[in-house]
Amino acid sequence: MPLKKILVTGGCGFIGTNFIRHTLEKKPYWSILNLDALTYAGNPANLESMPEDMAARYMFVHGDIRDNELLKRLFIKHNFDAVIHFAAESHVDRSILGPEAFVETNVIGTFRLLDASLKHWKAHGRHPEFRFLNVSTDEVYGSLGKTGYFTEKTPYDPSSPYSASKAAADHFVRAYFRTYGLPVLVTNSSNNYGPYQFPEKLIPLMILNIVESRPVPVYGDGKNVRDWLYVIDHCDALIKVLEEGKPGETYNIGGGEERQNIEVIHNLCDILDERLGRAGKNSSRRFIQFVTDRPGHDRRYAIDSSKLNGELGWKPEHSFEDALEATVDWYLRHNEWIKSVKTGEYRKWIEKNYHTR
Ligand code: NAD
Ligand code: TYD
Repeated sequence: MPLKKILVTGGCGFIGTNFIRHTLEKKPYWSILNLDALTYAGNPANLESMPEDMAARYMFVHGDIRDNELLKRLFIKHNFDAVIHFAAESHVDRSILGPEAFVETNVIGTFRLLDASLKHWKAHGRHPEFRFLNVSTDEVYGSLGKTGYFTEKTPYDPSSPYSASKAAADHFVRAYFRTYGLPVLVTNSSNNYGPYQFPEKLIPLMILNIVESRPVPVYGDGKNVRDWLYVIDHCDALIKVLEEGKPGETYNIGGGEERQNIEVIHNLCDILDERLGRAGKNSSRRFIQFVTDRPGHDRRYAIDSSKLNGELGWKPEHSFEDALEATVDWYLRHNEWIKSVKTGEYRKWIEKNYHTR
């Protein structure tokens, strides 16, 4: 089997790291070049210490997806068979306090990557096997009420600068299919959780705050609902879509595990009480504090994954309860990793986002 050469962008972030580690193990005939600008969210150490046969098929390039010249050089040198595009500014609260970086990376960066891919694809006789997979979010669909699910036909209605920038990127990706025929795929997934997630997102932030006996800030009434997807299930879905998805199509990927934020936080408190030997008056729930809500806070996300299930046979393999425990245990075991991401920049963010709430 000839080596399949994949360009992964943003592979030093949360999902990209899990994707690269999981895929190199699962697909012994894939090689991966990871292009990452190493923003605060990117940590190249995530991909050190891989088994030798995996490391031999992995290469890292420190660079920005907006850099046209670099993209051109990489495509010419490596002649990629596929692009899997994770690189993004990914945190809603940061997009509220500083939207421009989201336009730069998520919109302009995606456009430059698409354009470089198109030039490469044309230069190689419009190879029918080439794929550009855009990893997107369910947040482009806006908010659901108490009932219903997002399908691939739900109209886009983004609420935050983050989701607006991801929506714009998705539109560009589809336009490159309709206008130029570039074989693209779009996936819109629900909230991921698991190892290597930067502790600004709900689950890892709450784990660290509970462990450190710090306040656990719940936005609004805590009843916003997210549909939780274990990151490894997401990675398996992406492999399926890349290998078997139909160019031009969109696939929703959901965990099918809807929970109110406050339920997730209670779960985390209970798991950690057990792990840390806390009970009664000492229970971790005493750290919960309801704080000012996020502006434009979407009430509920829930994904209908029946297209992906029916057409490609994917379904999530991990239950929320089991994978949440595994995630907590991963953070408890990885003190060095936590120390390495809690830089000065991290502390500045916590101060900026939480001190006035
Ligand atoms: P992340 O913030 O953990 O990682 C993003 C990575 O992109 C980092 O390594 C960062 O250094 C890199 N990056 C940022 N700007 C770059 C640039 N200009 N050039 C090159 N690299 C750059 O994000 P994540 O949670 O792993 O999300 C990955 C993708 O999946 C994003 O596109 C996100 O929108 C999407 N997504 C995430 C979730 C989720 O729950 N985390 C859910 C659905 C979709
Ligand atoms: P987050 O992990 O930021 O993901 P997203 O906003 O992309 O869904 O937040 C998940 C949910 O948790 C969301 O409803 C906002 C809420 N939340 C809090 O209540 N407190 C917090 O400190 C954070 C970061 C999030």
